Amino acid sequence: MSDRSAQSSVRDILVTSALPYANGPLHLGHMLEQVQTDIWVRFQQSRGHNCRYVCAEDAHGTAIMLTAEELGITPQEQIDRMHAAHLADSRDFHINFANFHSTHSEENRELSESIYLALQANGHIAEREITQAFDPEKQLFLSDRYIKGTCPRCKTPDQYGDNCEACGATYSPSDLIDATSVLSGATPVDKASLHYFFTLPAFEEMLKEWTGSGTLQPQIANKLKEWLDTGLQEWDISRDAPYFGFEIPNAPGKYFYVWLDAPIGYMASHKNLCDREGLDFDAVWARGSSTELYHFIGKDIINFHGLFWPAMLDSAGYRTPTSIFVHGFLTVNGTKMSKSRGTFVNARTYLEHLDAEYIRYYFAAKLGSGVDDIDLNLEDFVQRVNSDVVGKVVNIASRCAGFLRKGFDSRLEATCSEPALVQDFIDAGGAIAELYEQREFSKAIREIIALADRANQYIDEKKPWVLAKEEGREAEVHAACSVGINLFRVLMTYLKPVLPAMAEKAETFLNCSLDWTALDSALVGHELAKFKPLLTRIDPKNVEAMVAATAAEAPTEKAAETAAPAPEKDTDSTIDFDTFAKVELRVAEIVAAEHVEGADKLLRLTLDLGGDQRNVFAGIKQAYPDPAALVGRLTVCVANLAPRKMRFGVSEGMVLAAGPGGGDIFLLQPDDGARPGMVVK
Ligand code: MSP
Ligand code: ZN
Repeated sequence: MSDRSAQSSVRDILVTSALPYANGPLHLGHMLEQVQTDIWVRFQQSRGHNCRYVCAEDAHGTAIMLTAEELGITPQEQIDRMHAAHLADSRDFHINFANFHSTHSEENRELSESIYLALQANGHIAEREITQAFDPEKQLFLSDRYIKGTCPRCKTPDQYGDNCEACGATYSPSDLIDATSVLSGATPVDKASLHYFFTLPAFEEMLKEWTGSGTLQPQIANKLKEWLDTGLQEWDISRDAPYFGFEIPNAPGKYFYVWLDAPIGYMASHKNLCDREGLDFDAVWARGSSTELYHFIGKDIINFHGLFWPAMLDSAGYRTPTSIFVHGFLTVNGTKMSKSRGTFVNARTYLEHLDAEYIRYYFAAKLGSGVDDIDLNLEDFVQRVNSDVVGKVVNIASRCAGFLRKGFDSRLEATCSEPALVQDFIDAGGAIAELYEQREFSKAIREIIALADRANQYIDEKKPWVLAKEEGREAEVHAACSVGINLFRVLMTYLKPVLPAMAEKAETFLNCSLDWTALDSALVGHELAKFKPLLTRIDPKNVEAMVAATAAEAPTEKAAETAAPAPEKDTDSTIDFDTFAKVELRVAEIVAAEHVEGADKLLRLTLDLGGDQRNVFAGIKQAYPDPAALVGRLTVCVANLAPRKMRFGVSEGMVLAAGPGGGDIFLLQPDDGARPGMVVK
């Protein structure tokens, strides 16, 4: 793949990102994926390739049907609302979809039916009766997540039908003690019904070849190989009515399982685009097509894209994806996003407080081609964007623009005084392009910022602000600032896929378009437009406000779990009851404890709050000089304390202990009644 970007011919590329479910708003995790995809697509377009990005609403399934019911609207209304909301969120993050369609569309119905009929004609659909839990009140078959009961192993109540969050046991819903339907509270009964299966094992050879073809990320190829080696199972692709989806042809009352028609939604969205713009749909999807096809997805949906989807396409006579590009999950401040901690940030909440380009830049600066999780550290976010984008890149233009306007009518020098330097910047583009191509965005950003450092260094050496005050040195001022602007132009061209809105403003200022293909030599004798601020610094207060707003969105019935915005500091040392009620105290088990190098009071504790692990620093070293003695002990922890960055790392809670201090501090002793995660008030 590495020689692709070096090819001079125009590539045809179709790109997708996973179709967001229509039962909830987009959050920053979704945006990580869309931003990654969008940067790659914009990069390809800037290189002159014919690259289109399609996506759609994933509109089907039980969850959406139930959400609509809860809201007292029809599923159609629910998916229409979400379609509009998702599209607006994506647009405001500058996601450049060629089309954003829906799986609940005529195109998708036709394609799903015809693909299914092809699978059936090829003998790849099996039928048999299976027995499942059924809610006799709701008249609905229940998937594992709609059944709750007491864990048969550790007796923890309120566990889902497939596994226990307390002890990790896995079981089938019929093993649960006192199982009830989450939907009605009724006791589920067993009921048989006819289901349709896709015979995945028939594709073992085909899939081995596809996964071994060298286009997949090594971790993904390995994962798929593991699944292939343990043996494939037939895949249940049908669901009984009532179900919001497409009815299966010749099978009244049976519907396609949402994951059957969801990936077909990629095709449907593309079909809709092709019909509208007179493009050739078949040429892209036909076996042997020369168009490259890539799916950007998260690591939780690899099996659907790496096994079922290529097998279905193959059976139905279509081409298979060129590759799937899998990314890790977004964490915030080092832990899973959490509503109560204010870190499960909705896309819209982010936009209400911050500019989309800040996080586009930050994501780019963190993303690589692997599947590791990506951490959004909020302090690092502010620091990084302010120092790199505003402090280094924008700074070059703002430093030079004023002198050019005052002394030279905003016109660049007639011949470039530093052609070699400008050429160096242009020549760096090959390596940077290769990094973009490989989705090594963080490395690309590192190269670009290193160039920005060089540009600033050049201006620092020339000191136009000193020269401007000296008699007869106008030409030098003109030269230094013209070169600075030329360097800025090259940098902004490289950053355009990441910062499209800022690049647009830069294009207005530079009075030229910033396309990679247009970079051949320095701009000379060129007139600039008026300089306007391109991007302002992030004010950390806005980040705090976003976190507070997110915490305030946490469900009200869980008020005790809600970390409210930090109250204003107050000279009165009493707290009112409401403030106290916001403190979430939980029993935590110390699962690891260790010394912190260089700290004489602190221990680093790993706390387990019933499945949720936290890193907490506690000043109890004098009382517990041997940290190993703490492992297995229980303590009470303030679970909704905003994470704090300390000298030795981020602390995600606070341990409560009693005693006069120093060597006399006491933690809770294990006690029969206390369980990790239990709420203490
Ligand atoms: N509807 C399915 C996808 C069907 S594709 C034919 C789905 N939807 S989703 O809304 O749950 O997720 C959409 C995408 O967002 C997935 O690729 C998923 O991995 C990604 N992410 C969801 N949460 C995420 C993070 N916290 N971090 C990064 N990506 C995350 O799955
Ligand atoms: Zn259990």
